[in-house]
Amino acid sequence: MNRKNEVVAALDLGTTKVTVLVAEVGEGGMSVLGVGTAESEGLRKGMVTSIGKAVEAIRKARHDAEQMSGYMISQVVAGVGGTHVVGVNNHAMVSPKQHEITKHDVRRVLDLAMAFSIPVDREVINVLPQQYVVDEHDGIRDPVGMSGVRLDVDVHLITAARAAIDNIQKCAERSGLQVVEFVANPLASALAVLEDNERELGVCVLDLGGGSGDLAIWANGSLLHTGVIGAGGNLITRDIATGLRTPAACAEELKVKYGSAWGRMVAAGETIDVPSVGGRPDKSLSRHVLTEIIEPRVLEIFGLVRREIQKTGLDDLLAGGLVLSGGAAQMPGMVELGDELLNLPVRLGVPRGVKGLTSILGNPALATAYGLAVYAALPFRGDVPEPMLPVRQLKSHGGVGAWFKKAVGFLF
Ligand SMILES: Nc1ncnc2c1ncn2[C@@H]1O[C@H](COP(=O)(O)OP(=O)(O)OP(=O)(O)O)[C@@H](O)[C@H]1O
Ligand SMILES: [Mg+2]
Repeated sequence: MNRKNEVVAALDLGTTKVTVLVAEVGEGGMSVLGVGTAESEGLRKGMVTSIGKAVEAIRKARHDAEQMSGYMISQVVAGVGGTHVVGVNNHAMVSPKQHEITKHDVRRVLDLAMAFSIPVDREVINVLPQQYVVDEHDGIRDPVGMSGVRLDVDVHLITAARAAIDNIQKCAERSGLQVVEFVANPLASALAVLEDNERELGVCVLDLGGGSGDLAIWANGSLLHTGVIGAGGNLITRDIATGLRTPAACAEELKVKYGSAWGRMVAAGETIDVPSVGGRPDKSLSRHVLTEIIEPRVLEIFGLVRREIQKTGLDDLLAGGLVLSGGAAQMPGMVELGDELLNLPVRLGVPRGVKGLTSILGNPALATAYGLAVYAALPFRGDVPEPMLPVRQLKSHGGVGAWFKKAVGFLF
C-alpha cells in the first residue's frame, strides 16, 4: 500500500439497514476495502426511534466492515437523512484587502455566506460553494490570484434538525465511534452516482430508500437544491401486506421477487403464491394483482417528486434527467414509469468509478454509504479547486489530515 494513502470510514443509518464502509484514498483515487451492513429497526425516515436497536445494528455493521477491510474503525463520517434535511441558497460579498484576491479573502466571504440565521433547533451541516463572482465576472471556480475590487460567492447550505444529529452522534458514540463530520444523505448519494457531465448539464438525483426519498438538483456543476420526501419502499410493502392480507415479511418478499412498478411490463396469466395469516391456506393470485397495488403508490411517490422539483423552479434545467438510486430503485418498471410520469430521461444510479469490492457495490442501495466516503475523500482528489470544495465542519480538532490519521488503525 502506498504510504501516502489515507483510510476513511462512513456510517449510513438507513431506515432498513445500517452500513459501515471503509475506503482507501490516494493519488490513484478511492478504493473500497470493506463494507458491513446490518438490518436496522431503530430508525424511521432518518430519525432514531430506538437507540438500543440502532447501536446493535451499528456494532454488527462495523464488525463486518472491520473484518473485511482489516482496519479497526474509530472515527466516521455519518450521513443525515429525513425530511428535516433542507437546503437553502445564500450569497455574500467582501472587498478584497489588496487588489489581488487571496485565500484569506475566499475564507472571509465563505464565513459570511455561512453566517446564516437559523432557528436554534437546527444546524448547518454542509456548505457547498456554487460559484464566485469577481467584479462583474461570474461562473468563477477559483478566484485566488485574480484582480478585482469585489468578491461575491453563492453557496448552498444544508441544514438539519439538531436533535436528529445529536441522536445519530449518541448512537455512534455508544457503538464506540466518533462522528467527525455529518453529511446530508442527498448530497452523498449524488456524489456517488452522478457523472461530472450530468452535474454540468443539469440533473436530479432521487435516492429512494425504505423510509424516505432523498432529492438533490445540480446544474452548471453546482448543487442548487436539497430536499427529502417522506415516502419510500416501505410504504409499498405496507400496501401489499394490507391489500393481500399477508404478513409484512411475506409482503416484502413478494415485492422483491415479483413486484413490478408498471403493470404494462407484466405478462398476462402469470400467477404467484401468497402466504396467508392466521393459519389460513395460501392463495394463488395473478401477478397483475400485485402490480395493481404497487403502481398507484409508485405514481404517488413520483408525484411528490414532481411537485418538489416544480417547487424549486429548476425543472427547465434538468437536461440530464433524473438518476434513481436507493434500494427501492431496483424494482422493475421504476425507471420506465418515472420516465413516463416525470417526462424526464430516467436512469438507474449505482456507485460509479468503484475500485475494490465492485460486485458488492453494484447495488443502488449502497449509494449513500459510498457517497459519504467520496465526500470525505474530495480534498485528496486534486481535481476540484480548493475554493470549490465543501467547507469542512469538522467536529474533531486538527483538520482533515488529523482525523484521517486517527480514523482507523490496523486490525491485524
Ligand atoms: N429488488 C427490490 N425490488 C424492490 N424494492 C426493493 C428491492 N430491494 C430492496 N428494495 C426496497 O428498498 C428499500 C430499502 O432501500 P435502502 O436500503 O436504500 O433504504 P435505507 O437506506 O435503509 O432507508 P432510508 O434511506 O429511507 O432511510 C426497502 O423498502 C426495500 O423493500
Ligand atoms: Mg438510505
